[in-house]
Amino acid sequence: MRIVVLVSGTGSNLQAVIDAGESGELDVEIAAVGADREGTYGVERSAAAGIDTFVVNFRSYAERRDWDDALRGKVASYEPDLVLSSGFMRIVDERFIKLFEGRYVNTHPALLPSFPGAHGVRDALAYGVKVTGATVMIADAGVDTGPILAQAPVAILDDDTEATLHERIKVEERRLLVETLAKLAAGG
Ligand code: GAR
Repeated sequence: MRIVVLVSGTGSNLQAVIDAGESGELDVEIAAVGADREGTYGVERSAAAGIDTFVVNFRSYAERRDWDDALRGKVASYEPDLVLSSGFMRIVDERFIKLFEGRYVNTHPALLPSFPGAHGVRDALAYGVKVTGATVMIADAGVDTGPILAQAPVAILDDDTEATLHERIKVEERRLLVETLAKLAAGG
């Protein structure tokens, strides 16, 4: 299974995929890693691992549609079987979703449909729920609304901060992501 991974930040989920690929746990080829901004650690660590990288900088495009065209074109040029959002903090347009329909996988640090959006961990803490978790899903044109592939719960502790909770969620998120990709690679 040939994948392109999109990142906006540190790419720890991506690192889990790289590691699982290297250990043989996961049969994937990471064709490229791309970002929407310069200077992400996700791109840096991919380049260090010898993976092809690209940046389609959101701020370099006056028109949103031009950025969408550039991103879609760049990703498509690698002819991936699957596109993975590993903390990619941009909503892609419907043309991207259509081109990679059912093949754009995303993760989210909450138990969807609760707490969608950019602050899933903070919003769960603020609401006061006692259990949150990680979700792996197929991305559609909405904000974290696509079909759910896998979920894992994480208990919220009384002294949790956004950072401590997010770290525990990410442990589950990485495990779930690798498991789900392995199933997709094996079974389509
Ligand atoms: C992950 O927890 C991911 O679920 C979240 O960003 C983090 C990225 O971590 N994504 C979202 O909140 C999307 N709504 P990473 O860059 O270390 O993989």
